[in-house]
Amino acid sequence: MRDIVALTGATGFIGSAVARRLIQGGWRVRALRRSPSPTARLTSTPLQWVLGTFEDRDCLESLVGDADAVIHCAGAVRGITEADFYRANVEAVSRLAHIAASRSPVPRFLLISSLAAREPELSPYAASKRLGELALSETADRLPWTALRPPVVYGPEDRAIRPLLRLMLYGIAPILGRKDGRFSLLYVEDLAEAVIQWLISNTVEKRAFELDDGHPNGYTWHEVIETFQRLRGKRVIHFQVPELIPNVGARLNKIVASVIGYAPMFTPGKVREFRHPDWICDNAPFCRVANWTPKVRLEEGLRLTLDFPLPWQGAGA
Ligand SMILES: NC(=O)c1ccc[n+]([C@@H]2O[C@H](COP(=O)([O-])OP(=O)(O)OC[C@H]3O[C@@H](n4cnc5c(N)ncnc54)[C@H](OP(=O)(O)O)[C@@H]3O)[C@@H](O)[C@H]2O)c1
Repeated sequence: MRDIVALTGATGFIGSAVARRLIQGGWRVRALRRSPSPTARLTSTPLQWVLGTFEDRDCLESLVGDADAVIHCAGAVRGITEADFYRANVEAVSRLAHIAASRSPVPRFLLISSLAAREPELSPYAASKRLGELALSETADRLPWTALRPPVVYGPEDRAIRPLLRLMLYGIAPILGRKDGRFSLLYVEDLAEAVIQWLISNTVEKRAFELDDGHPNGYTWHEVIETFQRLRGKRVIHFQVPELIPNVGARLNKIVASVIGYAPMFTPGKVREFRHPDWICDNAPFCRVANWTPKVRLEEGLRLTLDFPLPWQGAGA
């Protein structure tokens, strides 16, 4: 039996993959959950749940407890204002890091940040991810910490990529990003493996590391669509959407979300992130400190994602 890991965000897309991989590797996982009902994603994964929120200090103390490492994967990915992101992406990091730093012995701390933190001026989300890293580094003298900055992470069970995949299955792909924009990608299981290799490596470099699938110079939207077409053996009609349309659409969505009261993904900030020309990562520094090599490139990752039954697909779809 390996060490104890305290994990946040286990009910989410990335956190559930990390939880499964930790259990598979023999770690004991204590995970924070704010909803009383268990998540369908982890029904057969034996986690020790701590029920509570980031505002509940006692609950965070129980979560960290005697853990050898804390992996903070929870994060707000939808919202409009800075306040929508601040609580989960900055305050929670600070609170958890201080609790971890007050323990003896002090656990190692891993923050799942985001490549967006590299460009904090683009959106409230990106700004909050950068501030989360800063909040963590403020405990630097007491806490051995690392932040990972993944680019877009995809895989089965990912809700963010579904609308686009759905359209592509219907044979249409509107391109919202720039024609010349390049971006890195990372398959979710490779990210979970990076977490494992960070744990094993015992690295003490206090810094943020970028991660990607190792495809040199990232991808363009055209490459993604070509890969999809090859996999499905069908043509996808793709077209560049004029900048005005996502700008107006995102503003409208923001207004509707404020009126009805939901946390939107598609916002003016997200459009600015989309249209940023360079989201290419360099994973070499992380590969040097941890024995990690990403295994899944786009074609294989898309195949695994598409093979997974998506909610709108009926039997045999
Ligand atoms: N997906 C990507 O492409 C990507 C790329 C780079 C970085 N990231 C980072 O990876 C992390 C996980 O993202 P994801 O894609 O897995 O998102 P997700 O599926 O929406 O999961 C988010 C997780 O965080 C928890 N959470 C959010 N706000 C919370 C709050 N206020 N209090 C307590 N728990 C809260 C959620 O709990 P509930 O289940 O209770 O809502 C859930 O477990 C985030 O930090 C995100 O910034 C994601």
